Amino acid sequence: MGLPYSLTPYLLVLLLCFLNVSTINSKKRRKQEAGLFGGNFSALYVIGDSLVDPGNNNYLSTLAKANFTPYGFNFEGSIPTGRFSDGKTIADYIAIYYGLPLVPAYMGLSEQQKNNISTGINYASASCGIFPDTGKQVGKCLSMSIQVDLFNQTIEKNLKQKFKIQSELNNHLAESLFMTAIGVNDYSCSGSGYNESTDANSFADKLLNEFWLQIQRMHELGARKFFINNIKPLGCYPNMIANTVPRGSCNEKINRAISIYNVKLRESLSDNTRRQKLSNTSFIYSDYFNFMLGLRGPSSNHVSSNLVNTTSPCCPIFYYKGSIPTCVPRSVPCKAAETYLFFDPFHPTQMANFMYAIQCFQERKICHVVRG
Ligand SMILES: *[C@@H]1O[C@H](CO)[C@@H](O)[C@H](O)[C@H]1NC(C)=O
Ligand SMILES: *[C@@H]1O[C@H](CO)[C@@H](O)[C@H](O)[C@H]1NC(C)=O
Ligand SMILES: *[C@@H]1O[C@H](CO)[C@@H](O)[C@H](O)[C@H]1NC(C)=O
Ligand SMILES: *[C@@H]1O[C@H](CO)[C@@H](O)[C@H](O)[C@H]1NC(C)=O
Ligand SMILES: *[C@@H]1O[C@H](CO)[C@@H](O)[C@H](O)[C@H]1NC(C)=O
Ligand SMILES: *[C@@H]1O[C@H](CO)[C@@H](O)[C@H](O)[C@H]1NC(C)=O
Repeated sequence: MGLPYSLTPYLLVLLLCFLNVSTINSKKRRKQEAGLFGGNFSALYVIGDSLVDPGNNNYLSTLAKANFTPYGFNFEGSIPTGRFSDGKTIADYIAIYYGLPLVPAYMGLSEQQKNNISTGINYASASCGIFPDTGKQVGKCLSMSIQVDLFNQTIEKNLKQKFKIQSELNNHLAESLFMTAIGVNDYSCSGSGYNESTDANSFADKLLNEFWLQIQRMHELGARKFFINNIKPLGCYPNMIANTVPRGSCNEKINRAISIYNVKLRESLSDNTRRQKLSNTSFIYSDYFNFMLGLRGPSSNHVSSNLVNTTSPCCPIFYYKGSIPTCVPRSVPCKAAETYLFFDPFHPTQMANFMYAIQCFQERKICHVVRG
């Protein structure tokens, strides 16, 4: 698009406002789809990992943190918040699209703040995953079941003060969007035993089973609208391609294993026996895997996005012993972050996240409502 970088968030808002209006105006669009994509949500609740962690790990004893520069240098006020990017995450762009405030990190909120928030809370935690043991070798983190426990506490302790009548609370929850973006660490940071000789098919079944247990718990608590992000193509990320032969090619083995999970995940969303258990539930499926592959490949997307550097991270890298590589604290990042796909070896730049919003909401290439 070749637009000045600083303008892009405003452009997104303009563009998406326009979109919103045109969506609402096209009466022929099926009601449910308009509700999910064009309608309003009361709140956005986020369950996830470092892709969408807005700073929960700042409050935990772990090496998986991003609360130092150069992280956040393109964020409002140029401050590191704990987001693993130079700026906004895809969860931020989803909130912007739906006209909600950026969703705050649960761990950073006082009890008083929690009592006063009804537009959503983010529980996502870097290095954690769907299995309870995932990511724990680098320190503490909030696994998916813990995140759902914390959401339950939010309801019990905080939302019940705001919504004193049960039916009001139920309406709030039913009209909220629940985003999940979790699972890659079960493949990469695994305490649950994933390695290259693991049977990918049965591993995916086990992982998906655990994922659905947590979705069912969220449904039990009142969640009805889900935005499900699939798992990224980890095999093409800078930390992986540094060791491949030929150098720079993707690790296809790990990508295939992740694809097996993603296909099962997508199929499970339209599985009728599952859906009957989850009455009145709608799903948006977001194909993040192919979004990232598309930006990497020599496609038209790639050219139009200006993301010319798709192999190296923007910031200088620091390898902790036995831990995940991050940006070197207080280092100087690349000059033109808006031309890089990756900010650090595991995470996209704000520009890549912005492109995600365009392809999800404007072009509707990667996000789709899944019917039963
Ligand atoms: C969304 O909310 C705004 C402001 O509350 C309202 O004017 C608009 O009609 C709502 N749109 C839909 C589709 O409900
Ligand atoms: C509650 O939130 C509103 C809007 O975000 C803010 O204006 C108000 O000061 C907050 N109240 C307290 C007691 O924190
Ligand atoms: C791979 O994981 C299995 C258990 O899932 C374990 O028995 C095996 O030793 C592991 N292999 C390597 C090379 O770590
Ligand atoms: C939520 O918390 C309540 C109170 O602690 C508990 O009774 C209930 O089983 C929990 N629900 C879920 C789905 O975890
Ligand atoms: C499903 O939603 C409709 C309309 O909101 C409601 O009347 C109905 O009771 C719900 N069904 C269940 C099983 O929750
Ligand atoms: C990508 O960036 C790295 C480091 O900033 C640089 O060494 C490399 O040449 C760049 N590659 C391309 C294709 O621009």
